[in-house]
Amino acid sequence: MKLEDVRNVAVIGAGIMGHGIAQVFALGGYRVTLNDLDETILGNAIDRLKTNLGTFAENGLISQDEIPNTLLRIAPVTDLREAVCDADFITEAVIEDIELKRKLFNQLDELCPARTILASNSSSLLISDFASTTKRQDRVVLTHWFNPPHIVPTVEIIKGHRTSDETVDLVYALLKKVRKLPVKIAKEIPGYLVNRIQLAMAREVWHLWEQGVASAEDIDIAVKGSFGFRLASIGPLLTNDLGGNDTNYAVAKYLFPLINDSHEPPPAFARMVQAGNLGAKTGKGFFDYSKEEWNRIVKKRDQEFLQRLKALYWSE
Ligand SMILES: NC(=O)c1ccc[n+]([C@@H]2O[C@H](COP(=O)([O-])OP(=O)(O)OC[C@H]3O[C@@H](n4cnc5c(N)ncnc54)[C@H](O)[C@@H]3O)[C@@H](O)[C@H]2O)c1
Repeated sequence: MKLEDVRNVAVIGAGIMGHGIAQVFALGGYRVTLNDLDETILGNAIDRLKTNLGTFAENGLISQDEIPNTLLRIAPVTDLREAVCDADFITEAVIEDIELKRKLFNQLDELCPARTILASNSSSLLISDFASTTKRQDRVVLTHWFNPPHIVPTVEIIKGHRTSDETVDLVYALLKKVRKLPVKIAKEIPGYLVNRIQLAMAREVWHLWEQGVASAEDIDIAVKGSFGFRLASIGPLLTNDLGGNDTNYAVAKYLFPLINDSHEPPPAFARMVQAGNLGAKTGKGFFDYSKEEWNRIVKKRDQEFLQRLKALYWSE
């Protein structure tokens, strides 16, 4: 199949990730079927899509006129067969449950045309573990999106043991066409690329917080205003080259033995989770939140993200 042969996209699972992924393909001009277990979930997903598209228009990424046409391209469907029978590209975003995903891939293989490419948005599982339930392992691939998927540009494409290069290239081209920033990951490893890097940082951040080296507020300010500020524009390796690798090497040689290398999250972090302090959704985590404060932070975050998306990626 060629890129121009892709016309219909199906998204299975209309939760946090699925509704946003559907938005990306619909804005890219594709007809999208959005599947979930019942009408209520799908109704909520469409409401969220309307809000997202409104925010896109308010921030100048799309015109108000594009909203109704984009929504018309998205068909909410509870019947799986109807959702996938004419799809050229399918991505699943159902809950992170390997048995459910294995069963779903097996069903999709039965229900959709031979040409169809099947993708998973799993955030931890290896694609080979469920590609094996299909008879089209060359056309099964992992596409790992980041929340919120309609805003964050990068999508990791992870090749399973049997995924063909043609499939990876086609999915890469498709994601580029819908204005995402796809990255090919050549080796199938747990955590893929971005989550491994993020978690390496989180280990040290949680350790420094537990040790009381700085307050939670100061840790966030320090990161946001230093390498966080740089990272939206230049990646870590270019940063290294610009800074000079003789210096980077000397600093790493000195600091690596002193940096946390624990195989468990720190006890203070575990206690916080066990106490039910799960962050904004429970009103307390590293910081305290009222419902109004949470809404204000999320609104400000989304507006800043959209301005950054527009400035760095939208016009390309
Ligand atoms: N939330 C994130 O930040 C994030 C980021 C990257 C990847 N992911 C991955 O994306 C996937 C979805 O995560 P989410 O956060 O959107 O979860 P979610 O719970 O918000 O949504 C999952 C949806 O799947 C639906 N579902 C369950 N079984 C189904 C079935 N058999 N058929 C159709 N729909 C079904 C549920 O009703 C629900 O609406 C998971 O694999 C997750 O690991 C999540």
